[in-house]
Amino acid sequence: MTARKAGGATTARPRRKARTETRRTPSRPLNRSLSAAKASKQDEFYTQLSDIEKELRHYTAHFKGKTVLCNCDDPKVSNFFHYFSHNFEKLKLKKLITTCYKNCDADLFSKHTDERGIFLEYNGDKSGNRVPDPEEIGIHQLKGDGDFRSEECIKLLKQADIVVTNPPFSLFREYVEQLVKYKKKFLIIANHNAITYKEIFQLIKENKIWLGYTHPVAFIVPDHYEMRAVRSWRDENGTNWRSLGNACWFTNLDIAKRHDDLVLYREYSRREYPKYDNYNAIEVARVADIPIDFDGVMGVPVTFLEKYNPDQFEIVDANDIRRRKSVAIKAHGLIKDKDSAIKGKPTYVRIPIRKKRV
Ligand SMILES: C[S@@+](CC[C@H](N)C(=O)[O-])C[C@H]1O[C@@H](n2cnc3c(N)ncnc32)[C@H](O)[C@@H]1O
Repeated sequence: MTARKAGGATTARPRRKARTETRRTPSRPLNRSLSAAKASKQDEFYTQLSDIEKELRHYTAHFKGKTVLCNCDDPKVSNFFHYFSHNFEKLKLKKLITTCYKNCDADLFSKHTDERGIFLEYNGDKSGNRVPDPEEIGIHQLKGDGDFRSEECIKLLKQADIVVTNPPFSLFREYVEQLVKYKKKFLIIANHNAITYKEIFQLIKENKIWLGYTHPVAFIVPDHYEMRAVRSWRDENGTNWRSLGNACWFTNLDIAKRHDDLVLYREYSRREYPKYDNYNAIEVARVADIPIDFDGVMGVPVTFLEKYNPDQFEIVDANDIRRRKSVAIKAHGLIKDKDSAIKGKPTYVRIPIRKKRV
C-alpha cells in the first residue's frame, strides 16, 4: 500500500462528488434514513472530507501535542484518517492511530475482507514533504477483528487523548459509554435523535456531552445498499449516496459557542405560554421564543441544544416537575409522547430547562 494512494483514494471519491451532490440536499430535517440504518445495522456510511473539515476547524487548539484515535476507520475509505494524517503538522499532533474493523489487507486498494483487523500508527512527516508517505505509516495486524470494544482496541484507546470518528450507528450507545468510561475526549458523528436516548440525554443533562457546530451533509454508502425514495442517489460516477438530514456532531471538547448567551427578547404571558397537563412547565414551541422574564421550567424543542450555554440555562429532569404522582416516572427525563400534552394535545418532544440568570 502507499499512503499517498490511501490519501488520494480517501479524498478523491467523497470530496469531488460531494461538491456536486450537496446542492441537491434539501434543508428540511428528516431522520428516517438514520433510524432505518440503525434498525437494519447498515453501518457503512462514509463521511465526506468537506464535512470533517467544516467541523474540525473549530477545534484546532485542542489537538496540539495530542494522540488522536479514529477507531472505526478503514484507511482505504476513511476521510478521518486522511484529514488527520494530512493535517498532522498543522494541528501539531503527537500521534495518529487508526483501527480498521474486519480488514487486515495491507493493500489499501483491495476489496479483500477478513475476520481480522489492522491498526495504523502515524507519528508525522519525517521526509519533510508534509505528506504521510507509506514508509512513515506503521501498519500492524490485530489479533482480533478490530472491534472497538476488544481488549486490544481498548489498549489503543487508553493511549489516545481525543477520539474522532463516525462510529457505527447501531452501536452508538455502547460506543459513547466506552468513551465516557475511559474518560476520553471525543468528537463523533451521530444521529440527532440520539439526544433523546436515555443514556445520552443523561450525559447532556450532566454537561458531559454537547452538540458540535455543523451537520454532516451526505455520506457515501456501499453499492449494495438499496436506493431509497428520498435522500438517496447514485451520482454520475456510480457512487451511492445518502443524505441523512439529521446527522450532527457530539463532543466533550470545549467550544466557543457553548459560552455564548442566547439573546432573549420575548416577554412571558400566560396566554402565549400554556402549561403542560402533566408537568409544571410552560410550553415554548420555538427556541427564539424563550421568554426573557420567566424563571420557572420551560419545555423547549431539542434544537435548543444547538444554542445551549450551561452558564445561562440548566436542564431539568421532567420527573422532578410532575404535577401529580400518577404521572409515570420516565427513564429519559424528557417531556415526551402523550405526557407532553397541553389540553390533551401532545406536543413534540421537549427538553425541560430553567434559566440560571433571570
Ligand atoms: C458509520 S461508518 C463510518 C466509517 C468511517 N468512520 C467514516 O466516517 O467514514 C462506521 C464504521 O464502523 C465500522 N464498525 C462496525 N462495527 C464496528 C465495531 N464493532 N468496531 C469497530 N468498527 C466497527 C463499520 O465497518 C463502519 O465502517
